[in-house]
Amino acid sequence: MLNEINDYISYIPCCEDPISGDVGVIKGKKTTYLYDVGSTLECLDFLYSLNGRMQIIISHFHADHTWWLTKHRKGDPELKEDDEISISYERPKFEKLFIGKGCEKHVSDGQIVKEKIEIYDETPLGEPLKLEIIPMPSSHTKDALALQVNEEYLFMGDSTYVGYHENKVTGEKWTEYNVHKLKEQIELLKSLKAEKCLVSHEKRFVRPKKVIIRQLEAIYEKRISGENSILMER
Ligand SMILES: [Fe+2]
Repeated sequence: MLNEINDYISYIPCCEDPISGDVGVIKGKKTTYLYDVGSTLECLDFLYSLNGRMQIIISHFHADHTWWLTKHRKGDPELKEDDEISISYERPKFEKLFIGKGCEKHVSDGQIVKEKIEIYDETPLGEPLKLEIIPMPSSHTKDALALQVNEEYLFMGDSTYVGYHENKVTGEKWTEYNVHKLKEQIELLKSLKAEKCLVSHEKRFVRPKKVIIRQLEAIYEKRISGENSILMER
C-alpha cells in the first residue's frame, strides 16, 4: 500500500512485525527514487515491480531500512520462524545505490556519499525534480543520509533518534545523544530550505521542521558543561 504525499512523492508506511522503516518513493520521469528499502514482503514486491528502474538512497545501515539489500542470516528478527525466503531470495536490481560512510560494511556495492550530491530529473508530469542527498550528523548512526526533494520535503530516516549503546563486558545498556553531532544536526536542519520533514517509524510521518528543531533543541538544553554526551536512558 502506497500512501500519497503529493502527485510524485509517496511512501510505504513503517510496521512493527517485522520491524520495517518507511520507504520513500519519488517518481521521476523514467526512474523511481527510493529512500530505504524496508524489510517486509510488501516492500520486496514493490521493489521487484520496478524491474530495476530505480535508484536507491539508504538512510542508514540498520536492517529495518536495508533488509532487501543485505545478507540474510538465520535468527535475524526480520525473518519469521517458518520463513525461508532468504534461501531462494534474489536481490532486487537497481541502477544506482547511495550509502553513507560506514554503511558499506552492511550494504555492499553502493556509492559512498561524503558530500552533498544533487540529481536533476523531471516528475512524470514534466515538472522539475531536484534531489539532494545530504550526509546528516546524527547520534543514531554515523552513516546517516538525508534526502531533500525540491527544497520542500526532507526525508530523515532515524537520524533524529538517540544512539543505542551497550557495555559488552557488563551488559549495561543506555541511550544518548552526542552533544556535537546534535548541534551540527540542528544547524544543518536550519540551513536547509525544506520545511516538511519525514521521520521514519513515526505514526505521523510528515512533520513540520520547526517542531523537529524545537524537540532537538530541548534535548540540547539538557547538556552538561564539559560532557560530550546527553544521557537519555539507562
Ligand atoms: Fe535505525
